Parts: sequence; C-alpha cells; structure tokens
Amino acid sequence: MAIRLGDVVPDFTAETTQGTINFHDWKNDSWAVLFSHPRDFTPVCTTELGAVAKLKGDFDARGVKVIGLSVDPVDSHLEWEKDIEETQGEAVNFPMIADPDRDVANLYDMIHPNANDTQTVRSVFVIAPDNTLKLNITYPASTGRNFDEILRVIDSLQLTAKYSVATPANWTNGGEVIIGAAVTDEQAKEKFPEGWRAVKPYLRWVPQPKG
Ligand code: BEZ
Repeated sequence: MAIRLGDVVPDFTAETTQGTINFHDWKNDSWAVLFSHPRDFTPVCTTELGAVAKLKGDFDARGVKVIGLSVDPVDSHLEWEKDIEETQGEAVNFPMIADPDRDVANLYDMIHPNANDTQTVRSVFVIAPDNTLKLNITYPASTGRNFDEILRVIDSLQLTAKYSVATPANWTNGGEVIIGAAVTDEQAKEKFPEGWRAVKPYLRWVPQPKG
C-alpha cells in the first residue's frame, strides 16, 4: 500500500553495505532521506550516487541521514562502489540497502510494474525525526535526480516545522517567506512584530525567520 504524507513510515531490517540495520533504530530520531535506484552498474545511477556522496556534508549539516537502496545484493553494491569512486571522484559515504527479495521495495511501493516489474523506480522519501513521511517524489529510470532540490525541500521542511510560515515557488534558503494561511492577522502581529507586506489579505510576506 502506498505510504502517504504524514504516515509513520514502515520499519524494516535489511542488509546494507555498512552491515545489518533496523531502519527506525538506524534513523534514531533524525531526519532521513531514503532513496532507491533501479540497478547497480547503470550509468544514471552511478552519477546519482556520486552526487549524493559529494553532498554528504550538506545533509550532515542539516542533521539528515542518507540511505540508498536497490534490488542488488551487498557484494554487487560494494563492487559497484569502486566504479563510483573511480568515475565520480567521491567514495560512497552512506549505506546502501541490498534488497534482492524486494521486501523493502514492496513495503515502500518502489516497484511500479507498468514502468518495470523487477527494478525499483527512483523514489525519494524524506522522513522527519518522528518517522512521519514529509516528502515522496518518484522519478523515472531515465531521469537522474537533482539532489540540490532535495536539500532545498529539506530546508523548507525544517523551517516550516519551526515557524508558522510557508515557502513560495522556487524559494531558496534566505529568501522571503509567506505567513501560513492558518495564521490570523491577530496571531501574526504576535509572531511577526516587525510586520509584514500584504499583497492580498491571504498573501503576506515576511523575511525568513532566523534562529
Ligand atoms: C541508469 O541508471 O542509467 C538506468 C537504470 C535503469 C534503467 C535505465 C537507466
């Protein structure tokens, strides 16, 4: 069954390139990104894993743990990681789940049979410290992901979890934000004593809150 935003994501135990993990224990109340790719030793996937390895410091800075998955076994992942380091200039520095029996893939609905009935699609799950799902995006096998966009969404999720704001289209960290629709003007006066710029009664802009 599909996992929907706000659901507690399913727990599982799996073999990874860094040993056996229990997902919720491994996550340990952090933010996490769980992402799948179709197959080892494929070109787009090779570039994706190199890209994520290069961004590890950016995920760490946000307190986000990263974990990959495909339906290949651990020894295949480990062999492929040598190629990734050689061709992408960065060693894979996060665990990769081996899911040859498709247990996790099925649990997370990562196999879309009308696209491919054996390989996982490119799923991305962003999961909050309380294990609820905050974002789910699915890309086709032929399109490599933009992991800067995943970081951008995490910035928005972490900001909007802390303050009564929402982020507009194409927002990036530091840009103006919008006072949440559920916040009345009376409440906004308390939360944003410096005031706001109202373009419409429902479209109220403030600088990005800090701290
Ligand atoms: C790739 O990573 O290049 C890829 C994997 C599966 C199908 C198509 C492309």
